[in-house]
Amino acid sequence: MVKIINGKEISNSLIEKFKKNVDNLKSEYNICPALAVIIVGDNPASKVYVNNKKKVCEKIGIKSYEFTLPTNTTESELLKLIYGLNRREDINGILVQLPLPSHINEKKIIENINPIKDVDAFNEINIGKIMTGNFNFLPCTPAGIVYLLKESNIKIEGKHCVIIGRSNIVGKPLAMLMLHNDATVTICHSKTKNLKEICKTADILIAAIGKPAFISCDVIKPGAVVVDVGINRDINGHICGDVDFEKVKDIASFITPVPGGVGPMTIAMLMKNTITATLLQKNI
Ligand code: GUN
Repeated sequence: MVKIINGKEISNSLIEKFKKNVDNLKSEYNICPALAVIIVGDNPASKVYVNNKKKVCEKIGIKSYEFTLPTNTTESELLKLIYGLNRREDINGILVQLPLPSHINEKKIIENINPIKDVDAFNEINIGKIMTGNFNFLPCTPAGIVYLLKESNIKIEGKHCVIIGRSNIVGKPLAMLMLHNDATVTICHSKTKNLKEICKTADILIAAIGKPAFISCDVIKPGAVVVDVGINRDINGHICGDVDFEKVKDIASFITPVPGGVGPMTIAMLMKNTITATLLQKNI
C-alpha cells in the first residue's frame, strides 16, 4: 500500500518549530529576522509564490519587506536596490523571485546578492559550498525534498536516485545533496537517451521536468519512492505535477502529491535559511 507523503503537514510542524525559534530570538536577543522579497513584473505564478512566502513569514514572526517593481525596471535599478539591501543591517535575507524579465541578466543579479543574505542559496559561493559539503544554506527545494525523505524514514544510503531535470535551482544541487547522503545518483535531462530504462532502475525517482503527467506507471520500478517537484497546470487549469499521480500511486511505495508535497517544504526551508542567515549575521 502506497504511503502519500504529506508535505503540508511536515511543513506545518517545521513552521511551528521555527516560530518558537523566532520568539526566542526576539525575547532573548531582541532580534527579529527579516526577509526582503523582490518581484519584478507581473508573472501571475510568481505573485502567488511571493504571497505564500509572505504569509508564512507572518505566521512565524519573520518580518517581510516586499519590493514590487514594474516590468520595465532596468538591471541597474534592480542592482541598486540589492546593493542597498546588502548594506541594511535590519535585512537578513534577500530573495529575488525568478524568472526575471528577459532584459535583466538573472545571473548578474543573483551574484550581486551578499552570499550571507542569499537565502535561496543560488549564488556561486553558496553553490560551491554545497559541492564540498561546507555550506551555510541549502537551496530550498532540494533541502525540502531530503527533509521529506528523512521524515518519512526512507533510507537514502546506497539507493539509486534518478533525478529528471538539471536546473541550477533543483536538479544539480539536489544531486549533490543526495550524494552527500550516500545515494548513487543519475541526473537525466531532455537529451538523455533511454530515459525510460534509466527511470525503471530508480529506487528514488525525482521528477523536476515541468511537464504535466510526464511520468507514468510504465517507468516506475515497483516499490520505488516517487517525488514530484513539478508545478504545472493541466488542460482544465488545475495545478498538477510531473507525475501521473493516480497511475503511479498503485506501483510506488511512497509518493508526494501536487499540491501539498514538495511545494510547502520549499517555503519552510526558506524560513529556515532566513533564521540561519540572521544567526550568522548576528554571530549567535
Ligand atoms: N522561482 C521559482 N522557484 C523559485 C525559488 O525557489 N526562488 C526564487 N527566488 N525564485 C523562484
